[in-house]
Amino acid sequence: MRAVEVTAFGTPDVLRLVDRPDPEPRPGAVRVRIHATIVNPVDSWVRRGTMAHRTPHLPFPFTLGFDIAGTVLDDTDAFTAGQRVIGLYPWLVEGTGKGTNAEIVHADPRWLAPLPQSVDWATAATVPLNSLTARQSLDLLGCAPGETVLVTGASGAVGSFAAQLAAADGAKVVAVASAGDEAYVTALGVQYVLSREDPHRLVEAVRKVAPNGVDRAFDAALIGAPLLGAVRAGGGFLSAVEAAAPAPERGITVTGVHAKPDAAQLTDLIRRVVAGELTTRIADVLPIEHSAQAHRRLEAGGLRGKLVLTF
Ligand SMILES: NC(=O)c1ccc[n+]([C@@H]2O[C@H](COP(=O)([O-])OP(=O)(O)OC[C@H]3O[C@@H](n4cnc5c(N)ncnc54)[C@H](OP(=O)(O)O)[C@@H]3O)[C@@H](O)[C@H]2O)c1
Repeated sequence: MRAVEVTAFGTPDVLRLVDRPDPEPRPGAVRVRIHATIVNPVDSWVRRGTMAHRTPHLPFPFTLGFDIAGTVLDDTDAFTAGQRVIGLYPWLVEGTGKGTNAEIVHADPRWLAPLPQSVDWATAATVPLNSLTARQSLDLLGCAPGETVLVTGASGAVGSFAAQLAAADGAKVVAVASAGDEAYVTALGVQYVLSREDPHRLVEAVRKVAPNGVDRAFDAALIGAPLLGAVRAGGGFLSAVEAAAPAPERGITVTGVHAKPDAAQLTDLIRRVVAGELTTRIADVLPIEHSAQAHRRLEAGGLRGKLVLTF
C-alpha cells in the first residue's frame, strides 16, 4: 500500500511517499481502505515538531492524518466488508505513529460511523475531526438556547461547523468571518457576522451587538486573552487548542477541547450533512502524491475550505 511518512521534523520536504506491506487482519480491529483524508492545521504542527513535547515516543518515520473516509475490508459485528464509513482516527493519542495518510489502516470499530451513499469521499472526509471538535466544544461550553455565542474563525472548518451547530441549538450566534467571506458565513444561519479585525477592534464590534458581552465564546481562531473582553462576567470561553486558552478573569470559565471519536455523534453529524442542515467546504482535492504541496498551501493561509488528499 501507499503511505506518506514523516521522516524527520521539518518543512513539507520531510514528507515521503512510500510503499509498505498491506496491514494484516487484527483481532478487535477493522481494516479500512482510505479513499480520502484531510490536511488539518494539526498535521502541519506535528510535522514541524511543534507538538513534540506531547509525543516523546512518536517513532520515525510516522504517518499523519486524523480523518477517515473509506471502505471497510473485514466483516465484524458492527460492519460488513465493503461498507462505506467515516471516522475520527485518534492516532496521536494512540501513540502508534500510524495515521490516515496511508491506503489501509487498522481502526477500532467504535471510531467509525456508516457513511450514506449520497456523500462523496472528499466531502465525507471534511466531517469527522472538524465537526466532532465543534460539537464537543459546544457541549463543553454548555450553551443554553437563547444565549449569545461568539465564534471566531467561522470561515474555517471547525468554526463554521460550530456556528451552524450553535445556531441549530438555538443560540444567537455572533460569527467572525475572514475577509471577503461574509456572505458564506451569513448563510450559516448566524445572527451577526463581524469582519476579522485586530482583537481590540473585534471586541469593540462584539460589544456593539452584545453590549454586556456574549455569554460564551468559542475561539477557533486562537485569538486568546484579548478576546476575553468580548465575554460577559461569569460567562464561558473555549479555545480550540488547550495550550492557547488564556488565564481566566472576571469569573469566566476558560477551557480547551481534545476531540475524541464518538460514533453516535458522528452518525448524527453526517446525517445532518446529508439533510443539508450542515455545510462543509472543500478548497481542493489532491492525490496523496501531492501531500507536500497540500502542506505548503495550508501553511500559506487564506484557504476557503479543506484540502482533501485522495488515494
Ligand atoms: N483540540 C482539538 O481537538 C482540535 C481539533 C481540530 C482542530 N483544532 C484546532 O482548531 C483550529 C481551527 O481549525 P480549522 O481546521 O477550522 O482551521 P482553518 O480551517 O484553517 O480555520 C481557521 C480560521 O480561523 C481564521 N483566523 C485565523 N486567525 C484569525 C484571527 N486572528 N482572527 C479571526 N480569524 C482568524 C482563519 O482565517 P484565514 O484563513 O483568513 O487566515 C480561518 O478561517 C486550529 O487551531 C486547529 O488546530 C483543534
